[in-house]
Order: sequence, then C-alpha cells, then structure tokens
Amino acid sequence: MTRRSEQLSPELHDYLVSRSTPPDAVLRELAAETLERTGASAGMQIGPEQGTFMTLLARMIGARNAVEVGTFTGYSSICLARGLAPGGRLLCCDVSEEWTSIARRYWAKAGLGDTMELRLAPALETLRALPDGTLFDLAFIDADKEGYIGYWDEIVPRIRQGGVVLVDNTLSHGRVIDETEHSSQVQGIRDFNDHALADDRVDLVLLPVGDGLTLAYKK
Ligand SMILES: C[S@@+](CC[C@H](N)C(=O)[O-])C[C@H]1O[C@@H](n2cnc3c(N)ncnc32)[C@H](O)[C@@H]1O
Repeated sequence: MTRRSEQLSPELHDYLVSRSTPPDAVLRELAAETLERTGASAGMQIGPEQGTFMTLLARMIGARNAVEVGTFTGYSSICLARGLAPGGRLLCCDVSEEWTSIARRYWAKAGLGDTMELRLAPALETLRALPDGTLFDLAFIDADKEGYIGYWDEIVPRIRQGGVVLVDNTLSHGRVIDETEHSSQVQGIRDFNDHALADDRVDLVLLPVGDGLTLAYKK
C-alpha cells in the first residue's frame, strides 16, 4: 500500500488554489479586512480552497441546517451558508463580539443575514442548551482545540444519519507527530483525533486540506 501524499510547495499550493473556483468579491474583501483589522490572528481564517470545498460539500449532501463552532470574522460561515439549501440556517457559535461584528457586516453584504444565527457564549454552553434529536445536516468545528472533544460529543448525536462533521486544524501544522510538543492545543488535537477515530457512529478521513481537515460521516 503506497503511503505517500504529495508535498505541497508554496508554488504547487498556489497552483491548486488557482485551479479551484475562486472566492468572490465579498470573500476577498473580508479576507483583506480581516488581515488589516486582526493582524496575525487573520491566520485563523480558513483558506480559499477550503472554503470552496466546504461550500461544495454542503451542496453535495443537500445540507439545510448547520452549526459552526468558531466563527471569527465570518469567512467559513459564508462558505458554509452558501452551500445550504434554500431556507437553510447556520447556527454560529463564538465568544468574540469584536470579531463577529465584522462577520455580521459581511453576512449582510453577502445577503445571508437571514441565514445566520449568532450565539455569543462559550460554545459548549450553547451546544448543551440545544434540544436533543437530529438538528443538523452539517457541522464545522474550528474553535479552541482543548474543547474539541466536548463539542464533538454534543454535536454528533444531533447530526442526522448521512450528515457530516468537519473538524479543522487536525494536523496542528505537523505538530501532532512531534513528540517534543506538549502544548495543550496540540495535545487537545491528538486526544480529539483518537476520540473521533474510536467513535463507531462515524466513518472519517483526515484530509491534508489546509491545516488538516477531518471529515466524519455519520453512519
Ligand atoms: C480559528 S478561529 C475561527 C475561524 C473561522 N472558522 C474562519 O474560518 O474564519 C477560532 C474562533 O473560536 C472562537 N472561540 C474560542 N474559544 C471559544 C469558545 N470557548 N466558544 C466559542 N468560540 C470560541 C474565537 O473567538 C475565534 O473567533
């Protein structure tokens, strides 16, 4: 069994991005404003090819109701929302009024104001307060890494059969396999990756998209 995956040089990555459906003017403007307003924190935003992938995935599974944990300035939420079926809803969880105020402006610019519901509170509280039962077709987890297992445990039971959970940063910039790395973020990701793999309710694949994107299919 071959074990190699293609190493992406910056040039090859640029090529890959240039041969994927590009972000539109709203997303480009949002990315530029995020960089200008948040500086180094802008690195938390998903990349353009991941955004396109998430829009297509939402469309492919016919998602109508979705939840996002970690909205920041709104890039990934716009990508997800654009893939939802007409009348779809995206519940956005974050703790930052400052960052999500940027998201709100761009939701309006993208004509998605009615699609989004923002809850400003620790995401675990928001998720625990949701009713039981299948509420969502699709979820995206991209917040504090130490919280991933808690988010997963609240979200998976609320995903319909055939629905998908996407989880970001599951390679931790390669640090997941660095035995000298003991930060709580990286250990949080390692623990999460083990936890999700052992969960019989899903089949999953860890994709080398962005900083590692786990795609879990609810059986
Ligand atoms: C990596 S960023 C999200 C990036 C976003 N998905 C995007 O692509 O633009 C992580 C976000 O999680 C939020 N966050 C951190 N801890 C949180 C918590 N306990 N509950 C909810 N949100 C949290 C932060 O405020 C930040 O906006």
